[in-house]
Amino acid sequence: MAITQDQIQEVSLIKPLKDCGTGDCSDEASGCGCSETGDAGTRAESRRTVVKSFLLAAFAFKGLVSARSAVADSADLSEEEEKKLPPQVGDRLTYFSRRKRGPFLKLDDLEAGGKQLVVVPIDRESGLIRDGSRNNQILLQRFDVSELEANTLANSGEGAVAYSAVCTHNGCPVTAWDRNAQTYMCPCHQSQFDPKNAASVVHGPAPRKLPALPLGVENGEIVVVGEFTSRVGHGRKTG
Ligand code: FES
Repeated sequence: MAITQDQIQEVSLIKPLKDCGTGDCSDEASGCGCSETGDAGTRAESRRTVVKSFLLAAFAFKGLVSARSAVADSADLSEEEEKKLPPQVGDRLTYFSRRKRGPFLKLDDLEAGGKQLVVVPIDRESGLIRDGSRNNQILLQRFDVSELEANTLANSGEGAVAYSAVCTHNGCPVTAWDRNAQTYMCPCHQSQFDPKNAASVVHGPAPRKLPALPLGVENGEIVVVGEFTSRVGHGRKTG
């Protein structure tokens, strides 16, 4: 990570040294940081040097950690760890049901207006199914694009929409579909979410909408094109 002088200065400004004006700069307890000369000036300069060195070391360490993470992401993960990764860009989706899982789901596999499927991400290259975390259980459904609100259309793949299946109230699996209300329903405390309007809460105690998983379509296959739009799991916190 390249660190510029401006960055160092910007961080230093978080806690500026005290301006002594024309006063006596020899009072070290005052936190004086003006550009005086003599012993006090030397001490202030030394302090700046120490702060800069510390910041440079901190940025360098952060860069190393980031680089290490990138390597771990790409090469060092065990199969079990790969299975726990959240959906990755380029992943396909397959059935959650062990009896049916395997094939990459296509847009044509979904009937517009039909009931939602519970699916999991699958690595396109290796075929590894990311079922190591219940946070990867996803609701997949297709609608006519004319039925979707603009905020939902933006994350849909030609009318296919996907949301986390983990209820934002207490984390139960959101499994039911209310055909009349056209909403997902959580069986634990009856929270309901509108899939045509970004899975916003229309009833019940859930504190926030279900996170959406942005989709696209490639050669007819449904493709993950982005991360979940907010934190998967229960509770108010979104990030
Ligand atoms: S856990 Fe879903 S409504 Fe309570």
